[in-house]
Amino acid sequence: MNVILVGPPGAGKGTQAETIVEHFKIPHVSTGDMFRDAVRQGTELGKRAQEYMNAGKLVPDEVTIGIVKERLSQPDCDKGFLLDGFPRTVVQAEALDGIMESLGKKIEIVVNIAVPDEIIVERIVGRRSCKKCNTVYHTKFNPPKVEGICDKCGEPLFQRADDQEATAVQRLRVYAEQTNPVLDFYAQKGVVKDIDGNRARAAVWEDVKKVLESYDNN
Ligand code: AP5
Ligand code: MG
Repeated sequence: MNVILVGPPGAGKGTQAETIVEHFKIPHVSTGDMFRDAVRQGTELGKRAQEYMNAGKLVPDEVTIGIVKERLSQPDCDKGFLLDGFPRTVVQAEALDGIMESLGKKIEIVVNIAVPDEIIVERIVGRRSCKKCNTVYHTKFNPPKVEGICDKCGEPLFQRADDQEATAVQRLRVYAEQTNPVLDFYAQKGVVKDIDGNRARAAVWEDVKKVLESYDNN
């Protein structure tokens, strides 16, 4: 099952991804997590990506497409994968078609998690993430058992550099301009499933699970 998760920043892609990969046993391929890992490790890729991320802008297509191509070619993606945060431009979507063709695969389903802009900012500024395992929390909506500590691995939580209000607003603008056309691209292929993400995490998951299971059973 080759799945793409789409939705504005803060829609709950990373949150739903945690449950999806556990339930369907497919790897989580998040370009945002890959870039943040590279920034932490101080690699050339990280140095290049950091300035764009902190400004709420997209990392250039050629950089992003290269890392995804390499990741999807790894053996753990053979039986399927969950892409989160890619593709984010039509150029990336077209490149992904080429990558899939070269691997003899295709994108079967695009899950679009829709949340209104006015809800997004509160979600983003309250987010806390684990540096080690990338689990996502929220100070109000999904707090960890012990404040500031990851439930899963006991590491300290941090606030992402791009989770300030002004940067969040800029990311929403970029999403509307550059990523909405990606949804049109997949809508034309008839593979988009819309999910109302403006509900509790468990309710969103019930719908995501139904959509993916109906595909999985086909
Ligand atoms: P990326 O890491 O992909 O960030 P994003 O798309 O902006 O999405 P987020 O991770 O902010 O939100 P999410 O939907 O995962 O929400 P989450 O589950 O965490 O990208 C970051 C940057 O990297 C980009 O700006 C760009 O610079 C670069 N980049 C990445 N991919 C790229 C690409 N393809 N091309 C170019 N550049 C790229 O939830 C958010 C918060 O809400 C959490 O606190 C969570 O606990 C809470 N929450 C979740 N669900 C619910 C719910 N149902 N109810 C209440 N609260 C909830
Ligand atoms: Mg995320």
